[in-house]
Amino acid sequence: MNRFEANLRIPGPTSLPDAVREAGARQMVNHRGPEFAVLQNSIIARLKTFYKTQNDVLIVTAAGTGGLESAIVSFLSPGDKVLAVTIGTFGDRFAKIASTYGADVTRLAFELGKAAAPEKVREALKAGGPWKAVLMTQNETSTAVTNPIEALAKVAHEEAPDALILVDAISGLGAVPFETDAWGLDVVVSGSQKAWMVAPGLSFVAVSPRAWEAAAVAKMPKFYFDLLAHKTSAEAGQTPWTPAVAVMFQLDVALQLMEQETLAEIWKRHAAVGAAVRAGLQTLGFKLLADPKYASDTVTGAWIPEDLDWKAFNGKLRKYGLIVAGGQGALKGKIFRIGHLGHVTIPNILNAMAVLEQTLIELDRPVTPGAAVAAAQVAALKSLGLAR
Ligand SMILES: Cc1ncc(COP(=O)(O)O)c(C=O)c1O
Repeated sequence: MNRFEANLRIPGPTSLPDAVREAGARQMVNHRGPEFAVLQNSIIARLKTFYKTQNDVLIVTAAGTGGLESAIVSFLSPGDKVLAVTIGTFGDRFAKIASTYGADVTRLAFELGKAAAPEKVREALKAGGPWKAVLMTQNETSTAVTNPIEALAKVAHEEAPDALILVDAISGLGAVPFETDAWGLDVVVSGSQKAWMVAPGLSFVAVSPRAWEAAAVAKMPKFYFDLLAHKTSAEAGQTPWTPAVAVMFQLDVALQLMEQETLAEIWKRHAAVGAAVRAGLQTLGFKLLADPKYASDTVTGAWIPEDLDWKAFNGKLRKYGLIVAGGQGALKGKIFRIGHLGHVTIPNILNAMAVLEQTLIELDRPVTPGAAVAAAQVAALKSLGLAR
């Protein structure tokens, strides 16, 4: 065990508020009984306010990938033409799930670190079809880029009005501005271990009436991830299979905390911590991967300089309790990522910057003590409108 308290700065699972952790220790209830029905109904109604939707929201006991799989198998049929807009590992994964189940997937990939360009999506939509669905990622955790979902969805509505828009919003929803209904999104997936400040184990899926029409005729094979079965059960206050009850207890408390803070303040806080991390890392001399215009406020990726020994660097960070994430896919060994979503404060980030500074100085790199902490704090204050 590390003798220092960890500053878990990976993009999920995120650290949990004490009240959320304690809620997970509650005694079980009958998942087919009235107490559970009250719990689930309340959670669903409150999730809808964070999703900004009047659509159904279903709770699936699964990792986020299970939620994505449920979106594919519940609304599509083998042979359906699907445009998969991908800007990284998770966009690729969504496309892979669709092709695994026999969809006819056209992959539209963008350079790593860039957001998807709406006009390129328009060209791709015009060049093919008829499209049954367009897949997109709200926040590409592997590259730390947030896509302009509103603009992408607008193009999809214009060029392929019959296509369902399926969005992986796993690592951004609940942390950064998002509008399910106003943007006309049909299926939106999120995961408990990200902005929701809850342990892993639950996936949330919002489903539009249009998507339910598609579900009635969708032919992909499915059992566990059949969202129609989840809908029927939810109407009876249940889930088709035994749910992760302890994680639901946690979610109930986490939603209370989120409601107390308010969505507007949660978005502001994430904008501030995002700005702080970017400013601090740049002051330390790191180059950021993401196009600054689309830099994510929930995760930041920085290139590992060639002359920096990653193992020694990361080992020292860990010794000081700072846990960061490495790169994924083609970016493995090339970048590191700092998660800043969910239960995260500006002082958490200032602590991370202090550890990075200390570590780099111990590794004999030219870093000015306090500079990154100051830059991060100034950026956060500016973002909050509190800069003097
Ligand atoms: C954008 C995105 N999509 C999908 C996933 C997959 O979620 P899970 O690991 O819970 O299956 C993640 C997890 O990091 C993610 O960030």
